[in-house]
Amino acid sequence: LSQLLFRDKSQPPVVFHFMPWVGSAAAYGQDPIKFFFDCRQKHGDVFTFVLLGRRVTVALGPGGNNFIMGGKHTVFSAEDIYTHITTPIFGKDVVYDCPNEVLMEQKKFVKFGLSTDNFRAYVGMIEEEVLGYMKSDSRFRIFQMNDINEWGSFDALKTMSEVTILTASRTLQGIEVRNHITKDYAQVYSDLDGGFTPLHFMFTNLPLESYRKRDAAHKKISDFYISIIRQRRENPGQEEEHDMIASLMNQKYRNGRALKDHEIAHIMIALLMAGQHTSSSTGSWSLLHIADRPDVADALFEEQVKHFRQPDGTWRTMEYEEIKDLPILDSVIRETLRIHPPIHSIMRAVREDIVVPRTLSAPSEDGQYIIPKGHVVMSSGAVSQVDPILWKNATEWDPSRWSDPEGVAAQAYKQYDDANGAKVDFGFGLVSKGTDSPYQPFGAGRHRCIGEQFAYLQLGTVITTVIRQVEMKLASGVPDPNYQTMITLPKKPRDILYRRRQFD
Ligand code: HEM
Repeated sequence: LSQLLFRDKSQPPVVFHFMPWVGSAAAYGQDPIKFFFDCRQKHGDVFTFVLLGRRVTVALGPGGNNFIMGGKHTVFSAEDIYTHITTPIFGKDVVYDCPNEVLMEQKKFVKFGLSTDNFRAYVGMIEEEVLGYMKSDSRFRIFQMNDINEWGSFDALKTMSEVTILTASRTLQGIEVRNHITKDYAQVYSDLDGGFTPLHFMFTNLPLESYRKRDAAHKKISDFYISIIRQRRENPGQEEEHDMIASLMNQKYRNGRALKDHEIAHIMIALLMAGQHTSSSTGSWSLLHIADRPDVADALFEEQVKHFRQPDGTWRTMEYEEIKDLPILDSVIRETLRIHPPIHSIMRAVREDIVVPRTLSAPSEDGQYIIPKGHVVMSSGAVSQVDPILWKNATEWDPSRWSDPEGVAAQAYKQYDDANGAKVDFGFGLVSKGTDSPYQPFGAGRHRCIGEQFAYLQLGTVITTVIRQVEMKLASGVPDPNYQTMITLPKKPRDILYRRRQFD
């Protein structure tokens, strides 16, 4: 009752909760998407909930996305909210442990390394890694199968995590890192990763063994990168490498200063962390959905046959430019990221009082709320991406929506235009990168992801290499998402049945 009686009406409505400090942690933690839709029904696009002592104001829909992702970085701070979890993992002087202008320069350095020229070299490397993985003594071992009619099974997430680290290290991280991926080193990565959990996000000072392990792992990995950089300096022959270390070693800040060794090492760790769970999650969801939909699997396979199967029955490696021109593959990844964006909530800390329209989904006379300094604001592309107001059959995985000009993706955008009373030119076939786009798996605005093209290249090559070799099916349906990890992952059981493809 007190929550209703003493509500400050100039501020967004607060979601009802029984326990003062805990607030809505259970409902949000269990299923944030359901929680947000329920809250929207009661309170509209803008509301505040209590999350373990913090006041979090959510702004939903494309309007909410625009409000937060398009907000001024001096007011909506990413570093204030993320640095306590990322700095011990990445290290000093990079990403959120430096002024935002420096991060912008660092992102430019990385973009420079993610060049078309490098991408061209990566396709063959990724294909080779995946084929090698399928041959090796791992869970996913098709070439040693004697009986081609026998179905095997593999855990989608475990397999994709391994494939992702192998392919990312072979390409972006560099040959020294790739050659270092042994069982022992996997434990070090896993210790570092152990610092990237919702618990570590919410609390900074728990007596957890995982902090000690995380810090030791950071030191070990950082020292390893620094030793690679030094060896390369002493041995300049390696400079033709297409990897990110080589690229960063040649970059300079605007003031003319080259990157220090520890900055390069820490950027490399940040990239490893940024790409690992996001890509392995998307890869596993993609394979799970493909396995669940034989018609889509067939279409993907036919697309491959049409372009890359040679008269003698062997496969040709794709050119980077060709990958970008495969509509079925593209729509499979795009649709997977719509339903399963790895990051469901994007947060910023509010540094000044700000005003927000009470209704964001359409122009309205409803007035404004004040969001006080100190609140956390949250946007959720994961909600606008499955919003039934915007998408037909919103929660259905249907890649064809992206390739049909009269289809539901086009209609979603049209409805959004109509609802906003203004023409927003998304352009068919293009996904708007605007901060007001309903589709934001890679975020938007100043903090937008720079790994999108690499992720499409990596995922596209992995998926097609698998599809060329095996048929897949699911024993049970596509699993539910697990929201209890920082990145949304498929729950167990997530096994895919597979067997070697049989050719006439
Ligand atoms: C930022 C998603 C892969 C590097 C982001 C953001 C999202 C995202 C949502 C915005 C975060 C925010 O605004 O707070 C994804 C997804 C991926 C992926 C879905 C794969 C499917 C990668 C890869 C790399 C990478 C492979 C590196 C090669 C980054 C960087 C940022 C970023 C450097 C910028 C952070 C900032 O400016 O604050 N990503 N990412 N990401 N991502 Fe990715």
